[in-house]
Amino acid sequence: MTRRLTVRTAIATAILAAAASGPAPARDTAPVILAKDSKGSPAERAATMLAQMTQAEKLSLLEGYFATDFARNKFTAPEAAREGSAGYVPGIPRLGIPPQWQTDAGLGVASQGGAKQKRAATALPSGPASAATFDTDLAYEAGRMVGGEARAYGFNVMLGGAVNLLREPRNGRNFEYAGEDPLLAGTIAGAQIAGVQSNHVIDTVKHFALNDQETDRGTGNFDIDGAAFRMSDLLAFELAIERGQPGSAMCAYNLVNGLHACESPFLLTQVLRDEWGWQGYVMSDWGAAHSTAASANAGLDQESGYGLQIAAWFGADKLDAALDRGEIAPARIDLMVARILTAMFAQGLIDDPVTGTRAIDFAADRAIAQRDAEAGIVLLKNDGNLLPMATSAKRIAVIGGHADKGVLSGGGSSQVYPDGDNAAPGVGPKGWPGPEIFYPSSPVEELRRQLPGARIDYADGSDPAAAAELAKNADLVIVFGTQWASESIDVPLHLDEAQDALIDAVAAANKRTVVVLETGGPVLTPWAAKVPAILEAWYPGRMGGAAIANVLTGKVNPSGRLPMTFPKSLDQLAYPGEPRKKEATYAEGAAVGYKWFDAKGLEPQFPFGHGLSYTTFTYNHLKVKRSGDGLVASVRVTNTGERAGGDAVQIYVGGKGWEAPKRLGGFAKVQLWPGHDTTVEIPIDARLLAVWDSSRHGWTRAAGRYSVTVARSSRDLGETVTIDLPASHLPSDWKPRR
Ligand code: BGC
Repeated sequence: MTRRLTVRTAIATAILAAAASGPAPARDTAPVILAKDSKGSPAERAATMLAQMTQAEKLSLLEGYFATDFARNKFTAPEAAREGSAGYVPGIPRLGIPPQWQTDAGLGVASQGGAKQKRAATALPSGPASAATFDTDLAYEAGRMVGGEARAYGFNVMLGGAVNLLREPRNGRNFEYAGEDPLLAGTIAGAQIAGVQSNHVIDTVKHFALNDQETDRGTGNFDIDGAAFRMSDLLAFELAIERGQPGSAMCAYNLVNGLHACESPFLLTQVLRDEWGWQGYVMSDWGAAHSTAASANAGLDQESGYGLQIAAWFGADKLDAALDRGEIAPARIDLMVARILTAMFAQGLIDDPVTGTRAIDFAADRAIAQRDAEAGIVLLKNDGNLLPMATSAKRIAVIGGHADKGVLSGGGSSQVYPDGDNAAPGVGPKGWPGPEIFYPSSPVEELRRQLPGARIDYADGSDPAAAAELAKNADLVIVFGTQWASESIDVPLHLDEAQDALIDAVAAANKRTVVVLETGGPVLTPWAAKVPAILEAWYPGRMGGAAIANVLTGKVNPSGRLPMTFPKSLDQLAYPGEPRKKEATYAEGAAVGYKWFDAKGLEPQFPFGHGLSYTTFTYNHLKVKRSGDGLVASVRVTNTGERAGGDAVQIYVGGKGWEAPKRLGGFAKVQLWPGHDTTVEIPIDARLLAVWDSSRHGWTRAAGRYSVTVARSSRDLGETVTIDLPASHLPSDWKPRR
């Protein structure tokens, strides 16, 4: 087997040699049982493999390679890697164990910036858009779609289940995550993970844990109170894992309460395994491991990205030395290997191996990306029902945001490259964390297609006076506000000044102005009172232009609801100055997002859960009853308007002694024809009625009266019913019955 590794450290060579042709163990006269022929449960099959493996073969599964050449480290990716992707772990051909071909990420099959050739793939809208759908079935479909493309390209591990909580609204990676509420984020991410894995591809929940900002992500130590941690970030992960059953989890770059996340026994062993009972394997983020024995003993099973990192803490030489010194027990190595193999068996990587030769049905995949984008667009404001736009509009002015060319996407390792070229090249940084990519789905072109009788003019917005002039003579003005965000940077809470000024100038010229935002997370909207209509389109993915146009024209009735609070001003944030640095405490604890706003009595610009529709819904007959350890609420929803539409029914629960007056307790997405109604049953998880009790190490619910409220948003509350509940205590390994 020929390889092109230029950084030939002893470890790398040893691992690859063992992988290619390692000698069989002493009992090599016995016939080899190939992985596909092994029998029993995934764990039993893993044990059968383990019993046949040499030490070198075992160690070869514990160190992964970067799968893209990396000049800075003079690294050339292994030949058998899928070029330009995130990772590669050699297989063991002698035993029929396939390599692990790893690709980013949650929004589609990504290519690394340094890839010689980018893989054309279908980009979903960004994470907040999928969360804004409040639609778990759609999240599953979205996952099924991206997992299918990963499989088609020959990947069997996706690095996609990103569920860090939106705790820092300026986090440059919020566009990869699912918002500020643990129930919503965990449920949506979990459904997406399950969808990915339906392709017999492992998915990876990440970045475990508290990688909630990019500032100082590699060196920062983020402290949080133990109980608050359980009720916020950890709860999001717990729910995503329960629902998605990911084969792997990725530990984060940062330190948590004084220890690197990838060597935290608390996170990797106590919480993940002893309490949550999760059976997968933990891989490090690319360069997030910092030790050999400490990491292995804490629960890290596989180090990732040799080549991008060259420490190789899990290289064979370091692991062997740690074994010799007795710092790692041989049984620990077996456990690490067994976990990796068990996940490979459990997710079907052995019985249904990837070939990389399956064709992609791009038309079908784009249809899913478009549905997701359409369902995730949030109509924030619509005074005088300016939208959907009147069919009588004859002159429409579209301004800014490169809307004549395409729609924005977020940057970094999750960057999905479209078929064809960047629609607006040359914007933003050329190198990492760029380039800034616009998908070729132009809102202007889509509007022209749908409204052949209208004159649609575009101005790029670089000259506010010219834009205002164009706006003045139009029947309707659509002005775009965009903010690019990316891995490795945090971003301001506002659009750049030029765009805010442009929106002001255009709104002053024409009262019939719609602002369309393409942002990774919340931004301040100082011009909100001056414009009648605002749409948050997020990064709307490969079909974003069509999705935006369909919502503007009314072909699609918007049904997205904010998965995050939009503040009125910077000083409303828990940590207003700038994202926290180095040694930081998340002192707001579990009071994240709307919970912070509720606890502090702050008035947001647009609250969590908010989103308008072109129809109206009413709620009646709210009832609640006990169900298992939790509750179930039921409510009748009626479409009282004149258009078919979707509604995200939200149930908030309230109790005493919580981090905030209320929590999202459950939700359901319904689609209704005008005049029709349906009764939805919404389960309320017992953990959302309790607080984490550090002294008893579990979820404790005090006896007392609890409120259950049906709502249009966290600030537009409908009927409330109360229920008296006895005291209860659930152990840390409690799981809901399904
Ligand atoms: C990111 C991960 C990603 C990995 C591989 C890291 O920089 O934090 O999310 O999966 O790179 O590309």
